[in-house]
Amino acid sequence: MSHADAPEPRAPLSSSALLRALAGDRPETAPVWFMRQAGRSLPEYRELRVGTRMLDACLTPDLAAEITLQPVRRHGVDAAVFFSDIVVPLRLAGVEVEIEPGRGPVFASPVRTADDVARITAIAPADVAAAAEPVREAVRLTVAELDRTGTPLIGFAGAPFTLAAYLVEGGPSKEHLRARAMMQSDQGSWNRLAGWLSEVSRAFLQAQIEAGAAAVQLFDSWAGSLAPAVYRSLVAPHSRAAVTDLPVPVIHFGVGTGPFLADMRLDGAAAAVGVDWRQPLDEAAALVGPDTTLQGNIDPALLGAPWEVLEAHVRDVVERGRAARAHIVNLGHGVPPEADPAVLTRVVELVHSIRS
Ligand code: CP3
Repeated sequence: MSHADAPEPRAPLSSSALLRALAGDRPETAPVWFMRQAGRSLPEYRELRVGTRMLDACLTPDLAAEITLQPVRRHGVDAAVFFSDIVVPLRLAGVEVEIEPGRGPVFASPVRTADDVARITAIAPADVAAAAEPVREAVRLTVAELDRTGTPLIGFAGAPFTLAAYLVEGGPSKEHLRARAMMQSDQGSWNRLAGWLSEVSRAFLQAQIEAGAAAVQLFDSWAGSLAPAVYRSLVAPHSRAAVTDLPVPVIHFGVGTGPFLADMRLDGAAAAVGVDWRQPLDEAAALVGPDTTLQGNIDPALLGAPWEVLEAHVRDVVERGRAARAHIVNLGHGVPPEADPAVLTRVVELVHSIRS
């Protein structure tokens, strides 16, 4: 048999810059990817999405796989992030939810009373795992393609508090007052709801891991609205339960979590902690200590600034990232829909030109 047509043996994923950084190693140049790299900033995404509702797109395997791959091809980022949404496992559980364009997740029946909590938590998290076949199929299709270049896929899920912030309110809110009220006025219901959300998100993560995700990110985007003591006692244990002892490394991200950044390590269950644009990475490194990789923290606002301003900022982020045991370059939050994709590609090239 001739080997002339055999594909080049590909490097194992464990030697990818992302997985090395998650293991605490410093590759020659820092890995870089962007939260919301798949999405409205890309014309090819907007074109594919015409006529399909967001959650239907998430549950159509070939569409979800293609959207996941678009930014990898375009930008040359060091990781793909699975195209899905934090409310997908709730849809799989049979909860009535839609994502309204320009607004976010909206629930037909908010979960506000002890009875509401009892009703929703009666759904078995195992039902989510059983219904997750379209998710597994989308991940398999994506990974088959990514494996050709040795690019890892990051799976993800919402953390219990951020999911509850939508579910208790019934939709997006600025300050998540109803969820914050429930957790202190009816701790029994809160712990039941957050415990259930933790199991549902864990089932979603496991489906992605079984199908080939090489790392996962837990999004607690709105945790920054909590007092540190409340985060510690009523939220962190549920987030930890969602990710503890998973077979792949975990990144834990929130916005405005500077006051309790060390708690975001989840007692070591998270290999990496995400930092938003407000907190310099050298200060963040001192808070999380020597056993945690940092991810972040380019200010998304500067994607719209003159290149000289953005370049100086990116160089400063990479420089400060040297204070951490390892650094994954990312934005401090998601790519804004109006961002110029050419600028994102240029940021990737810049990061790859800096020896870390
Ligand atoms: O590229 C990626 O980062 C992967 C895909 C991804 C999406 N949502 C796709 C999406 C990820 C990781 C998420 C997570 C998510 N979803 C979070 C946590 C991350 C964060 O931004 O803090 C949250 C809070 C949600 C809930 C949600 N879904 C919101 C607030 C919105 C925006 C609504 C809007 O139109 O502005 C969504 C919709 C959504 N999720 C879009 C995408 C690409 C936009 C949908 C569209 O194209 O209309």
